[in-house]
Amino acid sequence: MRKIGILTGGGDCPGLNAVIRAVVEKCAAHGIETFGFAGGWRGALNAEGKWMTLADVENLQAQGGTLLFTSRTNVLKEENGPERVKATMEKLGLSAIVAIGGDDTLGVADKLNNMGLNMIGVPKTIDNDLAGTEFTFGFDTAANIAMEQIDRLHTTAYSHNRYIVVELMGRHTGWIAMYAGLAGCASVTIIPEFPKTVEEVAQIMLERKERGLDYGIIAVAEGCEFADMDLSDANLDEFGNVRVAEKDVAERLAEALKKRTGIPTRHTVLGYIQRAGSPSVFDRILGTRMGYKAAECVIAEDYGKMMALQANEIVAIPLAAASAGRKVVGENLYKCAELYFR
Ligand code: F6P
Repeated sequence: MRKIGILTGGGDCPGLNAVIRAVVEKCAAHGIETFGFAGGWRGALNAEGKWMTLADVENLQAQGGTLLFTSRTNVLKEENGPERVKATMEKLGLSAIVAIGGDDTLGVADKLNNMGLNMIGVPKTIDNDLAGTEFTFGFDTAANIAMEQIDRLHTTAYSHNRYIVVELMGRHTGWIAMYAGLAGCASVTIIPEFPKTVEEVAQIMLERKERGLDYGIIAVAEGCEFADMDLSDANLDEFGNVRVAEKDVAERLAEALKKRTGIPTRHTVLGYIQRAGSPSVFDRILGTRMGYKAAECVIAEDYGKMMALQANEIVAIPLAAASAGRKVVGENLYKCAELYFR
């Protein structure tokens, strides 16, 4: 009987469980057993986890988070990391691993695949910034949660004649901020792809004041930099990513805007609520379709591939695509949103 492993790495994300369910079910239907590694690459390094049953994945697509736990462990930074993964695969008799994760997790999978360990990747991130795929599951749920919170914040901002700076997730790109800010009618949305200065944001607030509007929402992606505000004192994680939550972008921006405009300005950080809880229908279906296609690759022994959504079809593209740069918010979308920065 053929056997494979499956793991989830990086930040958790609504839709991960839909992928796990689809892989386990489709593989089982072809007589392939699936070992679920616990805690991403950490489980693969230490041979930790369990053999998955159909009972484990019953109705799993409806649940947020990941049944298998996750970590940001980087195999390539561990002593004899690739050898340890190889030993685990041999010990458990696995012919391949399906790795579900963002650019870090899939980058590791690509390198291991190049070293001769069979890997298949499924892209995941609420940030939606993975190249090669038009959308990643998790993003739709996160953007909807963020939009709902912005909708709510309008009423308290209005009632108190004040601005609220809302910090959204997105350490390198501003997809969540852009979608939620535009859909939720923010007075301005600031994203890493199209930087603004504090002064420019202050001007928008002052112009609104002249029109009798002394309240509003300012959406800001957590990864933003400002030429006129220092945010350089941040920590790095194991992959060298800035721990953006520690930059306090919204808090510092709100403070700076209050100083410059004299308009009361508060801040709120939406944080982990954006990736918590049950996935939207879009994310359940996208996760299911990607898991199904990944299992088809397992069955066909078509390794070194990453699943991708292209023109509404799920296709298998080279795994290297995950590390081939980021998908950023483009000018057309930004220009459309900019019309409402007023
Ligand atoms: O990469 C997805 C993401 O949600 C980012 O938007 C965020 O910066 C990061 O994960 C934070 O995750 P953690 O605090 O778990 O490392």
